[in-house]
Amino acid sequence: MNSTAPWTAARLRALKGREKIVSLTAYDFATARLVDESGIHLVLVGDSLGMTVLGYENTLPVTMLDMLHHTAAVARGVQNALVVADMPFMSYQISVPHALCNAARFLKVGAHAVKIEGGALRVPTVRALVENGIPVLGHIGLTPQSVQEFGGFKVQGRTEAAAEELLRDARALEEAGVFAIVLESIPPDLAGKITAAVGVPTIGIGAGPQCDGQVLVIHDLLGLGGDWKPKFAKRYADLGTAARAAISDYKREVETGKFPGPEHCY
Ligand code: KIV
Repeated sequence: MNSTAPWTAARLRALKGREKIVSLTAYDFATARLVDESGIHLVLVGDSLGMTVLGYENTLPVTMLDMLHHTAAVARGVQNALVVADMPFMSYQISVPHALCNAARFLKVGAHAVKIEGGALRVPTVRALVENGIPVLGHIGLTPQSVQEFGGFKVQGRTEAAAEELLRDARALEEAGVFAIVLESIPPDLAGKITAAVGVPTIGIGAGPQCDGQVLVIHDLLGLGGDWKPKFAKRYADLGTAARAAISDYKREVETGKFPGPEHCY
C-alpha cells in the first residue's frame, strides 16, 4: 500500500492490529498544515474548539456554523490525513434525516468523515450515515456533550454494569458500521477489553495504552491550553510561554524604538 496516498476511513480501519493510529485535533488552516505535514493519520476538527478556540466552558454552545467554518479551514490545510468533523450538540440527536442533512454539509466543505457521540442509541443514525456514503467515527465513554447528565467531566465505566454497557455500545457501533471508535476517559483495562472485543480500531484519550490509537487536543500537546492540563494529556512543548515571551519582546521593542529597524523599511 502506498503510504503517501491520502488516508481513507477504510485504510485506517485496516490498521487495526498492525500499526497505531495517531490523531490530533486542529481547528484552523495553519495548524492543520503542521499536523498533516507531521504525518498524523487523522485530523479531528473537534467540538473541543468550543473551549480551546471560542472560550466556552464546555462544548454545548458550539453550532453547526462554527464547526463548518473551522472544518473548511482545516480541510484546506490537509493533503494526506483523514479529516473528521465532530458533529456538534443537537446536530444529530433530533432525527436521522436531520443528522444526514447536517453530516452531508461537513462533507461538502471538505471533511472525509464525521464523529458522533454515543453508543447503542446511535445505531440507526450511524447506519443511515454509512449507507449514504458518510464514514462515521464513534465516541463512547466520557462523551463531553453529556456533561450535564454526567454532572461534570468524570471518568466513565468504573462499575461492572457501566463497563458492560460500554462493551455493548462498542459492539453495537461496530455492527452499525463505524470505521473506528474513540474511547474517552475510561479505565485502561476496560479500554483493553473493548479493543480486544471489536474488529474496528479504538482510539483512546484518557483510556490508557491498550487502544489501537491515540488522540489528543493539540492545545494540550503544545502547551497552549493555559495552566490546567488534564491528567491524561502530555505537554510536548510550552508554546504558551514562548508566545508570551515573544509578544513581550515585541511590545518592548516597539516602545523603545528598536522595531521596526532599517531592515524592515521599504
Ligand atoms: O472534541 C474533541 O476534541 C474530541 C476529542 C477529545 C476526542 O472529541
